[in-house]
Amino acid sequence: MLVHFVTDEPTKIPAIRAMLEPQHRVVPQILGRETPRGLSGVLMVDADLRAADRVEQIRRVLDELQSITEKLFVVQSHVQHVVSQAYALGATAVVSSSREIVPKLAQMELAARPAKAHCSDVPPAIADSASVFASMFSAVRGGKSLNLSDAETATSHVINGIAANGLGWWLDDVRKYHEGTFQHCLLVTGVAVGFALQIGFPPPDVERLGIAATLHDIGKARIPLSILDKSGKLDACEDEIMRRHPVIGYDLLKNLPGVSPQILDGVRHHHEYLDGSGYPDALKASEISDLVRLLTISDIFAALIESRPYRPAMSRQDAYVILRQMDGKLERPLVKAFQKVALVA
Ligand SMILES: [Fe+2]
Ligand SMILES: [Fe+2]
Repeated sequence: MLVHFVTDEPTKIPAIRAMLEPQHRVVPQILGRETPRGLSGVLMVDADLRAADRVEQIRRVLDELQSITEKLFVVQSHVQHVVSQAYALGATAVVSSSREIVPKLAQMELAARPAKAHCSDVPPAIADSASVFASMFSAVRGGKSLNLSDAETATSHVINGIAANGLGWWLDDVRKYHEGTFQHCLLVTGVAVGFALQIGFPPPDVERLGIAATLHDIGKARIPLSILDKSGKLDACEDEIMRRHPVIGYDLLKNLPGVSPQILDGVRHHHEYLDGSGYPDALKASEISDLVRLLTISDIFAALIESRPYRPAMSRQDAYVILRQMDGKLERPLVKAFQKVALVA
């Protein structure tokens, strides 16, 4: 992993290199000097956060490195105001001794790694889709722009996989072989495609909904992994950051040639509810399009049946019961129509 090490003390650089290389590649930067361009990986800051001029210099570096989402700050002691200053600057993790650096980076690297298949015999349709999802997310995480043809390719892999083997197979095998954000994207896309086919959408509409599902959470690629992969409940501040992902996704896509208004609508509004209690725009029923209504149902269902390291997957039957309990938020006739998708053999 690339570690962009920013410090106000040049003598710290050899020690950090000795500690991290060759497992990681260290790119050092002394505060006040030019920031290297085009970096991804983790930003590690070790500087005196009690000095206002240093803080200002760090802020400038962070402005230039907005594409790096993981920011590890080394503070000399856990004095509360220094730790607070680190978080105020955008730290996603703070350590107070050099001993903690290696395990913390290992944790960040593990979280950043695309979900790996547990077996070598992953069905090709799933392996192909997952690898396109992985490259899309890592491109966006690395500050590169998104390639719409990747989303189209991933979607067509999902459509072909379901056409060949059925949605039930897709849902079961994806849950068997993948974890985390990719599993969620693979499941939402599969469910949405299955839903569109069940309703009898013509092929272009199936594809449109599939692409919207493929891209619906792309904004999560810019959410810190410490929040994205947190095993426990998010606190209020983390939740507020997580809730930015629909707008981040919309902003990533809005100027991309070939992205239709319906797809943008799906990405921005898949957390809206008919009763106006959703986000980010608190839309009401009449403002929520059909595509978004289908996508929201698919998204919630997929999230419920996902397997996570810290909780077992919910059965499709139980997940469908929860959807039915969301009357008022989701469109009742659509939820009824979704029964055949949810309980598919
Ligand atoms: Fe989402
Ligand atoms: Fe989602």
